[in-house]
Formats: sequence, C-alpha cells, structure tokens
Amino acid sequence: MAEKVNRRSFLKTGGMMTAGTFLSGGVQVHAMAAEQGEPARPVSANDHLQIALIGAGGRGQSDTKTAAQVPGVKVRAVADCYDGRLAHAKELWGADIQTTRDYAEILARKDIDAVIIGTPDHWHMRAAVDAMNAGKDVYCEKPMIHLYSDGPKIIETAKRTGRIMQVGSQRVSSMIYKKAKDLLAAGSIGKLNMVTAWWDRNSSIGAWNYSVPLDASTTSCDWPRFLGTAPKIPWNPEHFFQWRKWKAYGSGEAGDLFVHLFSGTHFVTGVHGPTHAMATGGLRFWKDGRNVPDVLLGLFDYPEGFNLNLRCNFVNGGSESEGLVFTGSEGTMTIGGDGVSLVRVPRAKEPGYSVNSFAESMQKEFLAAYRKKYPITHPTGEIPMGEEKYVAPHGYNDTYDHMVTFFNAVRTRQPVVEDPVFGFRAAGAALLSNLSYDQKKVVRWDPEKMKVLD
Ligand SMILES: NC(=O)c1ccc[n+]([C@@H]2O[C@H](COP(=O)([O-])OP(=O)(O)OC[C@H]3O[C@@H](n4cnc5c(N)ncnc54)[C@H](O)[C@@H]3O)[C@@H](O)[C@H]2O)c1
Repeated sequence: MAEKVNRRSFLKTGGMMTAGTFLSGGVQVHAMAAEQGEPARPVSANDHLQIALIGAGGRGQSDTKTAAQVPGVKVRAVADCYDGRLAHAKELWGADIQTTRDYAEILARKDIDAVIIGTPDHWHMRAAVDAMNAGKDVYCEKPMIHLYSDGPKIIETAKRTGRIMQVGSQRVSSMIYKKAKDLLAAGSIGKLNMVTAWWDRNSSIGAWNYSVPLDASTTSCDWPRFLGTAPKIPWNPEHFFQWRKWKAYGSGEAGDLFVHLFSGTHFVTGVHGPTHAMATGGLRFWKDGRNVPDVLLGLFDYPEGFNLNLRCNFVNGGSESEGLVFTGSEGTMTIGGDGVSLVRVPRAKEPGYSVNSFAESMQKEFLAAYRKKYPITHPTGEIPMGEEKYVAPHGYNDTYDHMVTFFNAVRTRQPVVEDPVFGFRAAGAALLSNLSYDQKKVVRWDPEKMKVLD
C-alpha cells in the first residue's frame, strides 16, 4: 500500500470507530476498529459454558479452536467417525475430554450447554434436531440443509425447544459486512440494481480433493455411521474424506459456496430471497468420479428489484479470487479481501451530444440550441471523493465474532441474526441452483414461505 498522507485519527463513521483515515493512491482509506470483538472480561467459574463438537474434521476443529478463545468457553467432548480426528481432539483440548464415535453419548450429558456441528451436510438436520431436543444450543455449519425437507424440521425444533441455533456463515457477524450493510442503508451507492459474486479456484485442494489419511479403513472409520441416511455403499475412503464431491452428502458448489454468497447478500441487503433462479455449468475438468459440476453459474431475481449473479469456477487457470460487488444507481460497493470499498463516479449533469455525422449546418444549429439549454459551467468547491475503502484490522477473524455472537445469545437468550429461518432462506436459495441445473429450467421459490414452487 502507498505511503500514508493526511492522517486523521479516530473518525467516527456510521457508528463504527475507525482507527484512522488516510489517503492512499488517491483513495480515502478508513482503518476499521483496531481491537476485535468483546474486550476479555472475567467470567466466574460457574458461568463457564461447556461445549462439545460433533464432526471434528477441518472446519469443526477450526470452529472449536476459535470458540475456545471466547472468554468462559470450555471444550469438554468431541464426537467423530474417524479415530484419527478423535485422537487429535485430545491433542488439541486435553486428554481429559470425552471422545466418542456416537454423539448421543455427548447429548446425554447434563453439563454440556452447546454443541458445534461440523459434520458433512447430510447430517446437519439430524444432529441439530437431536441436540436441540436434548436441550443443547447449536452452532451448525452451513449449509443448514441438505434436503428442502430439513428446513421446516429444524425451524420447528428450535421454536418448540426454545434453543438458540446459529448457522455458520460467519460473514453475517463480520465487521466488514456490517459496514457494507450500513453503507448501503445510508444510500452510498443509491438504489441497488445488481449483485455479482464469485468464487474462483485453481487447485486440487480447492476442488475438494482433501487428503485421505494412510490409516483410513473400516477399523479407524465408522463407515455405517458416516453414511447415516445416505445410500448404503461399500467402504469408500474418498466418499468419507472428500464427501463434497457427491450429492449424497453435500450439495456441490451451491451448498458449499453459493450459500455463503447468499448469506452475505441477504445480510447486507436485508432481503429474504429470490423468486426465480436459473443455473448452468458443467463438469469440465475434475472428472474423478464426482457427480457435481466444477463450474456453476446462477442468476436470481429478487422482488426488491435487483438481480444476483453468482459464479463458482474450480477450473480457473488464472488467479484465484472471491468477492461480492453491489451495483447501484450512484456507485458500486465491493467486498473483498480485507475490507469494503466504494467507487462513485458522478453522472454528468448534461446529456452530451453525438452530432459529428450530421451536416455541418445542423451540427452548428444543434450545438447552439444545446448550449442555450446547457450553458458551459465550471465546477467549484471540494473535489468529490471517488473512491473510499474501509479496511479490517490485520488478521481479522470473522468466525471469532460469529462465535462471540453465538455465546452472547446462549448467555442472554436473545435471538441471533443467522437463525434457522435465515439459514433456511440462504441455503434454500442456494440449492435452487442445483434444481435448475438438473432440470435445465427456471425454478421458482417463495422466499417468505420458504417453498419451492412448481
Ligand atoms: N463456514 C465455513 O467457512 C466453512 C468452511 C469449511 C466447511 N464448512 C462446513 O463445515 C462442515 C464440515 O466440513 P469439513 O470440511 O470440516 O468436513 P470434514 O470431512 O473435514 O469433517 C467432517 C467430519 O464429520 C464427521 N462425521 C460424519 N458424520 C458424523 C456423525 N454422524 N457424527 C459425528 N461426526 C461425523 C466425519 O468423520 C468428519 O471427520 C460442512 O458442512 C461444510 O460445509 C464451513
């Protein structure tokens, strides 16, 4: 980044403390709050929240490491279907934690307040419903649903049991998305007409080819439990460790990544979902037995008068990137990397003219009439700010803020934003892409009733 000029400190913007504002390459840059989340406050020993993890793979472990950084949160138990991950859980959180292949043993414990669910998608509904019925609050990874029928079951259980449930699209608690929401609401880009978001990858791991451990077998892995309600097939370590590649356990790029883009879009704009969806794409490169596309494009109509277009491309031989651009009548707002930026180019006050092809006499006559209507003016005053950027502090982790939101709700019983209704609206919208892709037609959705329409 270029040298800082004109430094001004502690500017209050949109209710958020910005740690500093400066010009960089002609762009006004606001550094957002320097401290992340809640200041650590003492938590009395009997105010500790005891948590358990169900599904201790990559994301479950990373969520739980983050949760354990929130003051007053203690990890007490872990359930998983692969012994190697249970062994690593003890390495991470101590030999005295309970580890088991059967999460029912953990749900039966009275001293567990909340669970984090990091299983593959096809277990989300069952594990969340079982946990809430057992009196536990739930942090469940996205996408909340695997099948449309999962949504009403989770919503009903959360209502009936009065448990807090938060879905894990962490951007919903991100200071960057909060800033974007405030900027949009303040009219910074005028009336929104389009949202464009994408996720481009260029690596084998990015295309979900996660490592299979050398000891993977039906001894170290509980294959029948992993399968759950999925079709019964013989032991297959790729299905176990790279489950995103098969519809039986995941929902392809739509459920893995589009859902984040929907959560972000719905949070920033405050809308409930699209009414129409159309998707296309194909399996272009990773022809390794998977049954989901590696390129997916989706178009969605929102009743509020904007379109959303989404793209996931796992075969992008250029640079990897990810972002969201909100386009409005007065500017664009981009969320990407470490912050959110605005570009505003004021529209000309006069319409301009295109008269060169007319006869010279007509050009003269036209220009005279034009200048009579639009006399030449010379703008004065301050140069309008064309570009502005809000940057999160170095190393900012929105999952930490999402965990703080969750544990505050667990303590105060106040509702969270990314509750089961929000989670169903985001995942339900994302999965429309798969319906449209499979059926090769436009599909319709009622975002209020959360129902696919015929
Ligand atoms: N919020 C995010 O940014 C983010 C990032 C990555 C993954 N995720 C989500 O997290 C979830 C897990 O993804 P992952 O990449 O960690 O997968 P993973 O394969 O690494 O881990 C899943 C684990 O769940 C275990 N499991 C399966 N069935 C189980 C059961 N019945 N009981 C207990 N454990 C069970 C498996 O043994 C495995 O270890 C997915 O839903 C994914 O979409 C979210």
